[in-house]
Amino acid sequence: MPEDAAGTRLTLVGQGTPVPCIDGASRPYVDLDAAASTPALTAVAESVAEFLPLYSSIHRGAGWKSRTATAAYESARGSALEFCGMPRPNHVAVLCRNTTEAINHLAYRLRFSPDDVVLTTVIEHHANLLPWGRVATRRYVECERDGTFGIEALEEGLKAHPRPSLLAITGASNVSGWLPPIAEMIELAHLHGVPVMLDAAQLAPHRPIPASADFVAFSGHKLYAPFGTGVLVAPRDTFADGDPFLAGGGAVDLVDLEDVVWTEPPEREEAGSPNVVGAVALHSAISELTRLGWDAIEAHGTRLARKLREGLAAIDGVEVLGPRSRPDQADPPALLPMATFNVAGTHHALVASRLSAEWGIGVRHGCFCAHPYLVRLLGMGPEEVAAYRDQVSRGDHRYMPGAVRASCSLATSDEEVDALLAAVAAIAADSLSGRGTPVPYVQDMSTGDFWPDTDSVGWSPAERDVGSSCARG
Ligand SMILES: Cc1ncc(COP(=O)(O)O)c(C=O)c1O
Repeated sequence: MPEDAAGTRLTLVGQGTPVPCIDGASRPYVDLDAAASTPALTAVAESVAEFLPLYSSIHRGAGWKSRTATAAYESARGSALEFCGMPRPNHVAVLCRNTTEAINHLAYRLRFSPDDVVLTTVIEHHANLLPWGRVATRRYVECERDGTFGIEALEEGLKAHPRPSLLAITGASNVSGWLPPIAEMIELAHLHGVPVMLDAAQLAPHRPIPASADFVAFSGHKLYAPFGTGVLVAPRDTFADGDPFLAGGGAVDLVDLEDVVWTEPPEREEAGSPNVVGAVALHSAISELTRLGWDAIEAHGTRLARKLREGLAAIDGVEVLGPRSRPDQADPPALLPMATFNVAGTHHALVASRLSAEWGIGVRHGCFCAHPYLVRLLGMGPEEVAAYRDQVSRGDHRYMPGAVRASCSLATSDEEVDALLAAVAAIAADSLSGRGTPVPYVQDMSTGDFWPDTDSVGWSPAERDVGSSCARG
């Protein structure tokens, strides 16, 4: 964990919680799933606990607590704008649930038609692909075999006719961890007169958000504030006309049975009672990251990224997907502290299940809500894709392609990465030697997940829940 200027280490709630393993031992949980969701920073949980006695409805009540809660909510909104380097009054931060909602909100509000082209890329999370397909025609920037693309490929898409109405692009991949040169890409889009919607879900916890983006979306639950608030930042005039994404109370000035006068943004975009606690948590997380500083955050992430990727790549039988980072590289690609990999001869779901059941290590497996990208990183051809699509459409998820992703947070230690590397090395050795697993694991056809066939505490058949399959994407 990096330290702040005063030498204080930030901590996360629940760090090292003991979890049961199938040998009957409890082990401190090794959380290597930060790219999915981060635990709360201790400071965030404390801010929420301090605020709760003052919690009340906002923008609606005349009481002291309502005024205080409204001030806390608006101050959180201001901090989200500052975090994006986009000050009021020209920009608006709409507080919503998460990145997915933020992008859907924007897609609705931009009032595109099928004649509009949204230029996006094949490396996007589904959240930055599907909403655009509903409202416009998509054009894609293709990636190379290593999962990256150059500025030239982007320029081709920007120059093609008709000119795109928007570039919707991620600031960092949730699969390969690749950080495209986003500031340069935004500048290029602007040179071509194309505004940019930046999916900052993965970027925001690791790097500053470039203030040059026109629209930004990110999630509190990936930023150490898992209390249900996400953010859409956009120029105020995006919301000047037309009906909002959600219609209801709080978004209006006047209503009669036939007509409505919508109020000004941002309230116009936030119908219904807002998530005040989520906003307070987000504000606290932003303050903590700002206090820690980007230099310390980046240094920690870069060091762990190398350790993780080089460590995995050195294991016999392990293939790391995405751009290479070799020890001798003069100009290594910028990467988040995550690695997505496969173990030859062992299903990705079984690797993830063994890491959890035998070592207490939490990772994600599957397609990471980025099916088109994963298919490319795995180098799958159209016939293989058609075969698994056919199986999935018949309810059989057993052969769904995928990989395993280990992703680090600010709290991840070298020892935790070492624990993962040792566990993956043991799994790879079992696979190469044909030794198999210490207990049988059975696969669930409908999720693709594996479950150890044992009566150990926490792992008996009766304790089997719906599973944590990632196959659904
Ligand atoms: C790059 C990226 N974009 C968008 C999302 C969607 O975020 P959320 O699930 O918070 O809406 C994710 C989530 O993993 C992501 O990694």
